[in-house]
Amino acid sequence: MKTYNIAIDGPAGAGKSTIAKKLAADLGYIYVDTGAMYRAMAYYFLQNGIDAKDEKAIADACSTVDVTIQYQNGEQQVMLNGENVNGVIRREEVGNMASATSVYPVVRTKLVELQRQLAAKENVIMDGRDIGTVVLPDANVKIYLTASSRVRAQRRFDELTAKGNTCDIDEIEKDIIDRDYRDMHRETSPLKQAEDAVLLDTSELDIDGVVAEMKKIIQKKAE
Ligand code: DC
Repeated sequence: MKTYNIAIDGPAGAGKSTIAKKLAADLGYIYVDTGAMYRAMAYYFLQNGIDAKDEKAIADACSTVDVTIQYQNGEQQVMLNGENVNGVIRREEVGNMASATSVYPVVRTKLVELQRQLAAKENVIMDGRDIGTVVLPDANVKIYLTASSRVRAQRRFDELTAKGNTCDIDEIEKDIIDRDYRDMHRETSPLKQAEDAVLLDTSELDIDGVVAEMKKIIQKKAE
């Protein structure tokens, strides 16, 4: 049976994972967070003192590191060499390391294969940077989700301050702009809108508003 796949791409902090998770629950699809896979690899590199610029050490690590996915109560769990790393991959430094090390084809090839296997087995909503362009070029629906860097920084700022962290919104925005630049300008699979993707700017929308818009896009595609 051919599976139904929805690809969501966009820059950091556009709300991809929050929205994709909600949409997947509503539609009864599996949610695949590919950023978490790059983060798991990055976590391994950080833990093992591997420099982001040391391509040889990264390639060596890729041949031995094992990244797999499991689901617990519908939540994706990333397993790194058999250990659940969901709790430790959300830190800012891991995200930045993931952005820096996802430039290497050796890292991408390994994870793209895992992503394609998941999409071939199940109906998925998969989010990332290269899903509509590279991982699932034949996805049934492709959406490119974005928002202004200021709005994305504000969302991140609200999230962090709600957890009791003190932070500087200008610094967060600078970090977001740097990460966008790296993700959009790397040689292999840069972040860009697929030609057949629908663009959705979420700057002026709340979560329910974005989910409603996405459902309209999916519905329209199905007609
Ligand atoms: O979505 P995220 O912030 O968890 O992703 C972390 C980094 O991983 C992101 O800055 C770039 C990289 N990434 C990628 O290169 N390709 C993907 N499909 C997903 C993430």
